[in-house]
Amino acid sequence: MNLKRFWILWGAPALLLASCASWSLDYIAPPVAKEDTALWRGRRVYLIDCTRCHSAEPVSDYTRAEWRDIMPEMIKDSRLTDEEARAVTAYVMRFARAEGGGGAVVKN
Ligand code: HEC
Repeated sequence: MNLKRFWILWGAPALLLASCASWSLDYIAPPVAKEDTALWRGRRVYLIDCTRCHSAEPVSDYTRAEWRDIMPEMIKDSRLTDEEARAVTAYVMRFARAEGGGGAVVKN
């Protein structure tokens, strides 16, 4: 493969990664144990289905009240199954920013 193609293929993703380096994946979407099935699936939906149109913002950027406003439209946009919708809603509610309080639930 010539050098130009190499950069077209790998340059953009590398830049993208570098620009996000200050946010670890675990900060954006805190990990959960696989045994915690619904939350575990919810995290996958958050990181995979919810990133089709935009990147994932840290879950803790929003309070539960804010997520309650945001989710219905986003779920519709994502064309999730009922089960996926329930899982991702449970997930963002679990890691939402504490109501009224500053600071994230999970700190890295
Ligand atoms: C079909 C494209 C699409 C998908 C899929 C999608 N979004 Fe969005 N999202 C948007 C657009 C467009 C906006 C900005 C306009 C708006 O607020 O409606 C947005 C805005 C947002 C915001 C910012 C809202 C605010 O008020 O600041 C959050 C948070 C968000 N999306 C989360 C999600 C989550 C969680 C999912 C998965 C359930 C998701 N999005 C799936 C298109 C999408």
